[in-house]
Parts: sequence; structure tokens; C-alpha cells
Amino acid sequence: MTSTPNLRQNFPPNLKFIETPRPVIDETREVLTSLAQSPPRLSPKYFYDSRGSELFEGITELPEYYLTRAEAEIFDRHLDDIAKALGEGDIIIEPGSGNCSKVQPLLERAMPRAFVPIDIAGDFLLEAAANTAMAHPDLAVTAIAADFTQNWAFTENIPQGRRIVFYPGSTLGNFDPAAQRDFIGQLAKVVGTQGGILLGVDLHKDSAVLQRAYDDASGITAEFNRNMLAVVNARTGSNFEPNNWQHQARYNSKMRRIEMELVAQSAQSVTIGTQTLTFAPGAVIRTEHSHKFTLDNIEDLATAGGMVVTHHWLDSQSQFCLALMQTA
Ligand SMILES: C[S@@+](CC[C@H](N)C(=O)[O-])C[C@H]1O[C@@H](n2cnc3c(N)ncnc32)[C@H](O)[C@@H]1O
Repeated sequence: MTSTPNLRQNFPPNLKFIETPRPVIDETREVLTSLAQSPPRLSPKYFYDSRGSELFEGITELPEYYLTRAEAEIFDRHLDDIAKALGEGDIIIEPGSGNCSKVQPLLERAMPRAFVPIDIAGDFLLEAAANTAMAHPDLAVTAIAADFTQNWAFTENIPQGRRIVFYPGSTLGNFDPAAQRDFIGQLAKVVGTQGGILLGVDLHKDSAVLQRAYDDASGITAEFNRNMLAVVNARTGSNFEPNNWQHQARYNSKMRRIEMELVAQSAQSVTIGTQTLTFAPGAVIRTEHSHKFTLDNIEDLATAGGMVVTHHWLDSQSQFCLALMQTA
């Protein structure tokens, strides 16, 4: 993403930026609670500070990471149909909007009245939202820096009108299945009975292809994984040493998910809040699940939101699916 200087002073006139306060003490407790699980876990939301967001941008360009290209191909092939299915003049809301690149074709073709990117990485969000506002001067952009795993009070800032949530990138797969259904239920409430959810998810496929996508030869995914420890240090004051941990990604075909972990390379002692945790050599911290989907799963998710899948589109190799869910 290109740098936009002095954004906090020089907002484009069509951009509103809303920062919700970050609950510092809760995050320390949250980290300790998830590290006490078996296996110890950290939430994938801790991947993302500005560095993590940049590393993720790098991942999307890797030859092994087919997901972004497959999703982009769906937009290339079916954009007219997608825009027709959405209709004009909507409010497009994108939770976990990252660099806002995937929504650009929709903004151009579906011509929404407003765009609401929401992301936990506030500085990165501001830059991406400002670039979007400048590229689309007639579009009202309301960017909200918020953690959508906390509470959804921030939705009161979303303009009224027919709302479409755009949730691409298979980010839904980072939630475990029960949480996926809860999240879709939450999104269904945000859009109401007139709106819809445009969901991009990665489909179940050959495990070697999946594994390569999360363990690339150039090591960018490894760096992204280790950066989580630096983010946890910054948010909680802990003293993880990221370089003492090694990246590992394996496909669990029974659970249909990639399991990404950090493996201690030597004995570690880490202080978080008032506690000191010890990790033996070889100890693992699970950092991400990336669940893979079937078309039946997508129907079940729609049902969880009181919706049905009214349209779906695939890439030419049927690797990825974009589905539109609406109230029946
Ligand atoms: C996998 S990236 C996807 C980015 C983009 N939508 C795409 O598909 O390329 C996930 C995005 O969600 C954001 N995110 C992760 N957890 C979040 C949370 N709990 N609340 C808000 N945003 C979150 C990250 O900062 C990141 O930009």
C-alpha cells in the first residue's frame, strides 16, 4: 500500500474515521486464558498490527497462496452477475477489510452509496480507507477501527439503508465451526431482513496444495506467524522472543483445517501481566485454524443466519466460492 502522509490531519472530505477504545487489560487476560488451553492457543486477531497487515499482503501475492487469485478470478469472470445480484445504492460493510483491495471492483460496478471498512489494525485501516475515499470521491466512507470479537456496539455508526456485508478471503475459516455460525448470525442481525452477506470461502481440496499455501518456500508465512508474538508483546507488555519460535503448518484432514503453530526452539520463560509461563523445547502454541468448506457447509451457515444462499460463483478450478446469502 502506498503511504499517505498526515492522514489524521488531512482527511479526504468523504471519509469518517471512528476509533473504538482498545481494552488493554482484557487482552492480557484473554491471552493468558487462551494460552492455558490444550494446546495453548493465541487468537489470529493478534497477527495484525501494521507489520502483520503488510506481511499478509505479501502472502496474498505468493505463488503458493492460490486463494487470493482464485477469488479475484471469480470477480473477473462474474462481476456483472455479482453486481446485478446486489443491486445499486447499498451500504457495503467489510469486516477485516485489510488493504481494501478486494472490494474495489464491487465499489466500481455495484455503485454503493456508502462503504464501511472495519479492522482491528487502525493505522493500516486509516490508510486503506483514505486511499479508497480519494479514489471514489462520491462514496461516503466510514472506517471503524474495532475488534469484532469484543462487542458490536460500533455498528451504531453504520449508515442506514440496504446493507451488504462483504466478508472475503475465507477469513470466516479462522473461526471454529460454532463460532462461524455465531458470526454469520451476528452479521445477519447487522444487515437485517432486507440485506445480504457476500461471503468468500476456500473449498476443501488436496491436502498438499493446502499445506503449501500455508508454508511457502520464501518464509513469508513463517515471518507472519512469528510476528504474532511481537503483537502480543506490544498489546500486553509480555516478553516473548519471536526468533526462538519456529513456524509449522499442517492440514488436519479429519477436521478439514490447516493448523498453524509456533514451536519453541529452546526452553522459554515468558512474563505476561503478573504471570510467568514456561515452555519446554518443542512446546507448541496454536496460532490459527483455517477451516476449509464444502458447498453444504455454506448452506448450513446461511441457515444459521436465518438466510439462504441465493447465488454462488466459483473460479475455473472450483478452488474457491463466493456466495450471496439473503433472507428467504
Ligand atoms: C486474513 S486478513 C483478510 C484481509 C482482506 N479482507 C482480504 O481478504 O484480503 C484478516 C483481516 O481481518 C482483520 N482482523 C482480524 N481479526 C480481527 C478482529 N478481531 N476485529 C477486527 N478486524 C480483525 C485483520 O487486521 C486483517 O486485516
